Amino acid sequence: MKKTTIIRRLDYSFTSEMVSEISGLIKQISPSVPDLDKRTLERCLTPPSVVISATDNNKVVGIIMAVVYWSLSGLKARIEDFSVSAEYRRQGIGESMLYELLKTLYAKGTKEVSLSCNPTRHAATILYKKAGFRKPHTNIYYRKTEKNNDIKT
Ligand SMILES: CC(C)(COP(=O)(O)OP(=O)(O)OC[C@H]1O[C@@H](n2cnc3c(N)ncnc32)[C@H](O)[C@@H]1OP(=O)(O)O)[C@@H](O)C(=O)NCCC(=O)NCCS
Repeated sequence: MKKTTIIRRLDYSFTSEMVSEISGLIKQISPSVPDLDKRTLERCLTPPSVVISATDNNKVVGIIMAVVYWSLSGLKARIEDFSVSAEYRRQGIGESMLYELLKTLYAKGTKEVSLSCNPTRHAATILYKKAGFRKPHTNIYYRKTEKNNDIKT
C-alpha cells in the first residue's frame, strides 16, 4: 500500500467529488446501479452503520460498508459494496479496509457479520476466506419486493 493511502471511517464531511468517486467505485462492481447521490451516502453513514474509505491524495480509491442493525437476537452486521479501484488492487488496500471495518464492528459489540459474494468474484472469495469468513450451513432466500399483487392477505 502506498504511503499516501489513508484508511479511515468516512464521516459526514465528505465532498461532492468524493460522492462521484465512490459512485464510480460502486459502478465498477455493479454498472447498472444509479449514480450515488449525497442523500444516499448520508443515509449509509447513519449510525450504527459503518463506511470505510481508502483515499490516495484525497481521492477515494476504495470503499466498503457494513449495514449494522438491531434484531431481537442482538446487533448484527452485513457487508455491502466492497470495491477497490482497478489500478489500486493487489496493494493490500482491500484487506486493510476489511480489517478496519471488522475492528470497528467488534468495538460496537457486533458479534457476527455476514455477506454474500458471487463465486465468480475470485479475488474477493480468497480475501474473505483469508479473513476468516466461512460458508454457513443455511439457505439464503431472496425475493424482489415490488411485485406484491400475489401476496395473500
Ligand atoms: C476484492 C477486492 C476489493 C480486493 O481488494 P485488493 O485491494 O485488491 O485486495 P488486497 O491487495 O488487499 O489483497 C488481500 C488478499 O486478497 C487476496 N487477493 C486479492 N486479489 C487477488 C487476486 N486477484 N487473486 C488472488 N488472490 C487475491 C490475496 O490473498 C491477497 O493477499 P496477498 O496479496 O498477501 O496474497 C478487489 O479485488 C475488488 O475491488 N474487486 C472487484 C469488486 C469485488 O469483487 N468486490 C467484492 C464484492 S462481494
